[in-house]
Amino acid sequence: MEFDDVIRHRYSVRSFTSEKVDRSFILEILEAARMAPSAVNYQPWHFIVITEPENLTDLQEVYPRKWFTEAPACIVVCSDHNQSWKRRSDGKDFADVDAAIAIDHLVLKATDLGLGTCWVCNFDTEMTRKKLHLPENIEPIAIIPFGYTTSEAPPKSRKSLSELVHWEKFTSL
Ligand SMILES: Cc1cc2nc3c(=O)[nH]c(=O)nc-3n(C[C@H](O)[C@H](O)[C@H](O)COP(=O)(O)O)c2cc1C
Repeated sequence: MEFDDVIRHRYSVRSFTSEKVDRSFILEILEAARMAPSAVNYQPWHFIVITEPENLTDLQEVYPRKWFTEAPACIVVCSDHNQSWKRRSDGKDFADVDAAIAIDHLVLKATDLGLGTCWVCNFDTEMTRKKLHLPENIEPIAIIPFGYTTSEAPPKSRKSLSELVHWEKFTSL
């Protein structure tokens, strides 16, 4: 796909067919995430790939929506707070920012491969930690279910550029 088509075609897919995703596609998606930029190139992310049906069913408990485990695969994207960059001037931890960029890379690559994805952040983090044996420093940032879909993209609802863009300095719009 052309880059602009990938951007336009991506939407949050909440309905999946049972068709399995080929492992080579999963590896391409992970490779796209691996190539993402990160603060100081620390790459503080981990990707937990879940494809086994019993593990997907188990994961459903952290975000109990029927469509969620209909997906034949999920990637739980985690950040390691022991490895992420902290800005000296204010201590801000960029773990979330780095993870978000990696997630966007993998989501757009999945779109390019004809797969549907959805960001899921509204999950039970403590339950996720226990199920995936995450140590204290590893934070689950988002779960990305992915697979094939027969659903259609809804129209995009987005603010206009005039509501968002400030030229030269911030101005109240
Ligand atoms: C950080 C983040 C968290 C999100 N969490 C959830 C979620 O927990 N459940 C869900 O169904 N969608 C979730 N979404 C999807 C958004 O609702 C969706 O991206 C937004 O409504 C725009 O729609 P679109 O992705 O179809 O363009 C999340 C998206 C982002 C970026």
